[in-house]
Amino acid sequence: MIVLGIETSCDETAAALVRDGQDVLANAVASQIKLHAGYGGVVPELAAREHLRAMDVVVNEALAEAELDTSAIDAVSVTCGPGLIPALLVGTSYAKGLAAARGCPFLGVNHFLAHIYGAFLGQPGVLANVGAFPLLALVASGGHTALVVIEATGRARIVGTTLDDAAGEAYDKGAKILGLGYPGGPVLDRIAKTGNPKAHSFPRGLTGGGGRPLKPENRYNFSFSGVKTALLYATRDKELDEGALADVVASYQQAIVDVLVGKTIRAAAEYDTPTICMCGGVACNSQLRADMGAAVARAGRQLVLAPPKYCTDNAAMVGGIAYHYLSRGIASDMSLSVSARLNHSLGTVPFAPNAH
Ligand code: KG4
Ligand code: ZN
Repeated sequence: MIVLGIETSCDETAAALVRDGQDVLANAVASQIKLHAGYGGVVPELAAREHLRAMDVVVNEALAEAELDTSAIDAVSVTCGPGLIPALLVGTSYAKGLAAARGCPFLGVNHFLAHIYGAFLGQPGVLANVGAFPLLALVASGGHTALVVIEATGRARIVGTTLDDAAGEAYDKGAKILGLGYPGGPVLDRIAKTGNPKAHSFPRGLTGGGGRPLKPENRYNFSFSGVKTALLYATRDKELDEGALADVVASYQQAIVDVLVGKTIRAAAEYDTPTICMCGGVACNSQLRADMGAAVARAGRQLVLAPPKYCTDNAAMVGGIAYHYLSRGIASDMSLSVSARLNHSLGTVPFAPNAH
């Protein structure tokens, strides 16, 4: 079954063709980074207008890459939330129109679950051999940061989420404070490599540090607004030379990474998940990949890292996860709507590693 996946939840217009949930025949992504760079974040209406312009171009790019035409598409799937409403509406309307024209099934998928599925794409055998449920997933992106437990039955439950900024926002807003442009993740990642992560001591939010006891309900929740404010105060009215900037960035990054790694390892122990997967744009981060790898190995667990091209927003993860619903006869109605927020009941994931 060849599924066309479409993704327009934020600032990437993406289309992919995926065969049987695993074989990525084409993965086309048009980024709007330049369009939003001057604003330090994504402007929803501008994003929607650009999706409208680029959508058909990107779909044709994917078809050309796979050397297929629309007659090869067996089903059309699209991210229907969470995300920016105007942006989601463009992809969802396009997907419905194409499915209607083709007379094939149409399916809306959850962006969050699609990100988790991205960790199993392009790594043949990983889902079957390593990704045994129960599984703990850290989803860290520009829009969300959450820990998700997928129980042995496939039921997905959010056990912790951010109370304010997402980890990606901490990178993006941090870069904005330092005048380093948008998106902040890749540039801070690069600058941090030459800095000393112990040069400054930035707060680790919701870890019980700084004399503020951690409430039990926040054990797996995140907060990144404090570290961002601390960065602002630490650098305000200061001229930083290259070395001083690298030290600040490395220390700031370490504060974010320590929290992500620490909470993930603790949750894996409590929920006793042999496998941990990490996905979402922030999972591209080199320090996070290294520290998480070392900590998971020390904990005697198995880490599944999404390949970087499937960490940031893409449509292969959408077309990939869709196969598992569609092959069970699950499709969406043409009246399907979009949603901005993450639904805390994620339901049961359709992919079962042990069943492969
Ligand atoms: O998953 P994604 O493409 O979009 C959302 O669903 O939000 O994530 C984008 C986020 C941005 O905040 C970006 O700064 C961050 O991922 N990011 C990174 C890195 N590459 C992208 N953060 C840290 N280090 C990176 N190398
Ligand atoms: Zn995303």
